[in-house]
Amino acid sequence: AASPLRPYALLLDAQSATTDIADLDWDSIGFGIHPTDYMYVMKCNKDGSFSKGELQRWGNIEMSPSAGVLNYGQGLFEGLKAYRKQDGNILLFRPEENAMRMKIGAERMCMPSPTMEQFVEAVKATVIANKRWIPPSGRGSLYIRPLLMGTGAVLGLAPAPEYTFLIYVSPVGNYFREGLAPINLIVEDKLHRATPGGTGGVKTIGNYAAVLWAQSAAKKKGYSDVLYLDCVHNKYLEEVSSSNIFVVKGNVISTPAIGGTILPGVTRKSIIDVARSRGFQVEERLVSVDELFDADEVFCTGTAVVVSPVGSITYQGKRVTYREGGVGVVSQQLYSVVTKLQMGLIEDTNNWTLEL
Ligand code: COI
Repeated sequence: AASPLRPYALLLDAQSATTDIADLDWDSIGFGIHPTDYMYVMKCNKDGSFSKGELQRWGNIEMSPSAGVLNYGQGLFEGLKAYRKQDGNILLFRPEENAMRMKIGAERMCMPSPTMEQFVEAVKATVIANKRWIPPSGRGSLYIRPLLMGTGAVLGLAPAPEYTFLIYVSPVGNYFREGLAPINLIVEDKLHRATPGGTGGVKTIGNYAAVLWAQSAAKKKGYSDVLYLDCVHNKYLEEVSSSNIFVVKGNVISTPAIGGTILPGVTRKSIIDVARSRGFQVEERLVSVDELFDADEVFCTGTAVVVSPVGSITYQGKRVTYREGGVGVVSQQLYSVVTKLQMGLIEDTNNWTLEL
C-alpha cells in the first residue's frame, strides 16, 4: 500500500516537483494512464464527515475483498482537467461544478461526500504536487480523476460502513485517436445506457461498465463509439458512452434535456452558455433520432473529449454524413472558444477558471 509522507518531507518533495517538467513524449500521450508522483487520499469519519486528507506517493491501494465498491458498485468518479498556461501558471476549469455533481451523486448512491470546499482544495493540492506532469501549454492537459468509494466491508446488501475519497491524475492528449478529426458513431437500438428512475444522471462507475459491450462491438465494426437512445420509446437521443451530444440545424443547436438518464456534463453546460453568447439558439429538449438525418452538423462534448465533431452516424443500416466528413464550422468555433477559455488564451468573463 502507498505510505503517507510526513508533511515537511512532502513539502520539500512537492516543491522540487514543481520546478521541472516530466520527461514524456508529450505529442504521443493519448488518453492513457501515466502514473504521476502523488495521489490524494481522504477517509470518512464515523459521522460521515471527511477529514485528514493527505497526499501520498502514487501507488496501489488496499481494501477488503468485501468492500462495497467491489461487491455492489458503490462508487462514483469525476473528471476534470488542469492546463498549463503560456506564463507557466495552472488553470482549473469550473472545479466546483464537479464538486457539486459528486455531492449530488453521493446522495443517490447512499454515500457521504466531501464538502465542495474539501473537494476543490484536494484537487488543487493534487495538481500542485504533480505539477511537472502537466503537459506544456498547447500539448495536452492533466486529467484529474476524483473517486468516491465504499471501501468498508459488507456482505449483505447495504451501504458500506466506510468510504474513501481519492484523487489521481494523469497527463492526457486527445481522447479519440482521431483527435479533432470527426468520429463515426453508430446508434444502439437494442441495449440501453440508463432507465428513468435509475442512475444514468449521476457519475456512478456502473454506468460506464454497462456501455462496454456495445462500445466494444461498435469498435470491432470500425466505429469510434455508440450513441444511445432512450429506453422507453427507443427513439430519443440520450448520450454517447463517454460524452453528451449536440445536433446543429442552421442557427439552432439542440441537445437532449437533462432528466435523470443523461449525465449533466460540465462541458455540456459550458457549451450551451458559450453558444448562446455567440448568438446561437440552444434548445434542451427531446431530440428524435430522425433529426440526425436532417442535421447540418453533430458534435459530442465531455471533459475528456472536450468537443468532438461527428463525421457520420449509422442508424439501422442507414448512414448520414455531416459537412462531407470534415470538421463542422459550428463544432470548430465552439471547440476553439472553450479550449481557449480552458487554456487562458481568451478573457474569462464568466469566471469559470481557477488559477493556481
Ligand atoms: C470525462 O469526460 O471526463 C469522463 O468522465 C468520461 C470518461 C469515460 C473518460
